[in-house]
Amino acid sequence: MDRINPVSAVDYMNEGGYEGLKKSLWMSELDIIHEITESTLRGRGGAGFPTGIKLSHAHNARSKNKFVLCNADEGEPGTNKDRILLSKDPNSIFEGMAIAARAIGADKGYIYLRAEYPYIVPILEQALENAREAGCLGDNIFGSEFSFDIEIRPGGGAYVCGEESAMIESMEGKRGEPRFRPPYPTVQGLFQEPTAVFNVETLANIGPIMYRGADWYKTMGTKKSHGTKLYTISGNVRNKGVYEYEVGVNLKDLIYEAGGGIPDGRKLLAVQTGGTAGAIINKHQINMPMDPAYVADSGGSMGAGDVLVIDNTNDIVDILDNVLSFFVHESCGKCTPCREGSMRLYQLASGIIDGTTTSEGMENIRELCETMRLASLCGLGQSVPIPVLSCLDNFREIFDEYIVRNEKNKKIAAGGAK
Ligand SMILES: Cc1cc2nc3c(=O)[nH]c(=O)nc-3n(C[C@H](O)[C@H](O)[C@H](O)COP(=O)(O)O)c2cc1C
Ligand code: SF4
Repeated sequence: MDRINPVSAVDYMNEGGYEGLKKSLWMSELDIIHEITESTLRGRGGAGFPTGIKLSHAHNARSKNKFVLCNADEGEPGTNKDRILLSKDPNSIFEGMAIAARAIGADKGYIYLRAEYPYIVPILEQALENAREAGCLGDNIFGSEFSFDIEIRPGGGAYVCGEESAMIESMEGKRGEPRFRPPYPTVQGLFQEPTAVFNVETLANIGPIMYRGADWYKTMGTKKSHGTKLYTISGNVRNKGVYEYEVGVNLKDLIYEAGGGIPDGRKLLAVQTGGTAGAIINKHQINMPMDPAYVADSGGSMGAGDVLVIDNTNDIVDILDNVLSFFVHESCGKCTPCREGSMRLYQLASGIIDGTTTSEGMENIRELCETMRLASLCGLGQSVPIPVLSCLDNFREIFDEYIVRNEKNKKIAAGGAK
């Protein structure tokens, strides 16, 4: 990636960049969508929705005005992969956006950039300017009849603004709160027009797929999930960073080979995969391929590919308490299950540590999680139960010890009161 000057469209083209766009200019919209669908590319923003299907929905929506949005909000704690692409390889994102626009019939795109990445704005602005000069963006791209341009929009600075409908609200100048769905953004998105929203990394995959073909893409990965993936490794490892591997790399290899293992003779306690809303698994569960299909079946979650390594100097109940305080802070408050549920779960988790949560409280945690999963309006509230329940299930003995202690103290206190 460091071989090229990030803002230079010419450098990017010398490495085969924009060949996918050039090819797609002479293809029909449906043929482009077919190629991307065949590649089996799934969104890299967390939900893993099939990119070809999203393009197809936006293509089928009837309107003169359509938009392609690049979700560069990257608000997930411990995720840095999009930042690397935005600052080191922006033309790969522009190319993906232009191909997506060509496929759905859009002529305008926006990059919604995380508020905490202001230093990336000049890089993107310069790269856009150079891409226009080189004929890769703007009017009549590469001499064709296709015109498409991109603008940058600053993010609202809240985690929920990464949720696509909240992001659209924020771009329209409103408070960043998720919308009720349907209608989905591909039907009524930005300014009520059909809008296709893609994660940065998803977009960076589209150019190479169009250039080299879906069959080439499918030579990488596992039987069910193809291509490569950027994994962010953080926490208690020697080599924190962003690593590109084929989809399906073993989690153990990510921790001990890429991450260099745990320093200072400490031992592995837990791993949270898939961001703050991801599952917290124990050390016996790490021998698993990071393939979304497999990870979900084995009770984990891949999300945007984050791997948070937690060593044995940490208290797992304290970790859960910390995760829940994040959700209390980031819940936008629009719907009751998430607004009240996050706060109550946080109180119950804190109560495990300070001695007020007993076995009855533990039952309440499970019930609350079920309500939040079923009744929350957006993915934020719906996914809070994932770290909570995985933690309770995978570290049962630790929670049991706390609860036995709390029950005992409660009895002593009741006895003392007599
Ligand atoms: C609370 C919340 C935060 C999200 N944050 C991001 C984000 O920062 N970046 C992102 O690409 N997707 C994020 N998503 C997922 C988006 O809603 C959407 O699924 C994604 O941008 C679609 O792109 P993809 O199909 O390429 O993954 C978030 C979802 C939720 C519920
Ligand atoms: S689930 Fe949470 S973040 Fe999403 S709309 Fe409801 S209150 Fe807001």
